[in-house]
Amino acid sequence: MLNLAILISGRGSNMEAILKTIRKRKIPINPAIVISNKPDARGLSIAKRLGVKTEVVEHIKDKENRWDYDQKIIKTLKKYNVTPKNGLICLAGFMRIISPEFVKKFKNRILNIHPALLPSFPGLHAQRQAVEYGAKYSGCTVHIVDTGVDTGPIILQEPVPVKSNDTEDTLAKRILAKEHKLYPEAVKLFAEKRVKIIGRKTVIS
Ligand code: GRF
Repeated sequence: MLNLAILISGRGSNMEAILKTIRKRKIPINPAIVISNKPDARGLSIAKRLGVKTEVVEHIKDKENRWDYDQKIIKTLKKYNVTPKNGLICLAGFMRIISPEFVKKFKNRILNIHPALLPSFPGLHAQRQAVEYGAKYSGCTVHIVDTGVDTGPIILQEPVPVKSNDTEDTLAKRILAKEHKLYPEAVKLFAEKRVKIIGRKTVIS
């Protein structure tokens, strides 16, 4: 069975949706550890309440580069037996760009959720970008993490309408409700080995 690590920085609502769905739908994956880079992340107490182990791995400012920090994460993953052979890592509101070394070590085993229909509106404030651009639809995307920012092979996407009176917040709320369904579904497909990655595409069986 796969060992799952979820990396968070804050609220942890996607993490919560994933953990609850694993339990409810008996997804064949073991939630091994939730790691936060912030000690006050709200998601940490949610994970504990759901009976999942947690760790905080803080970034030492001005002392560490990205790879130095990621090596601490990898060490923590190893402690919970999340390895490049048996692991799946879900970034769920983890507000750090991860190093190419980390991505390469866990090739095709790191997932991320982005609150837009990629390749539209990558990077920060995706919902604000969609509102300001005047898009009629945005949505959410679960993708494999590669060495770019929000550029990896797409696993699942779900569109969400943008209303003319939407603000960043109202749109974010509508998208988030879809994220909570989409991310657990992608984890399920991955755990059931139904995601095949061919170049920059995925094929779902
Ligand atoms: C979500 O909107 C997700 O798409 C983005 O960061 C936010 C995390 O929210 N990557 P939460 O911590 O899962 O509640």
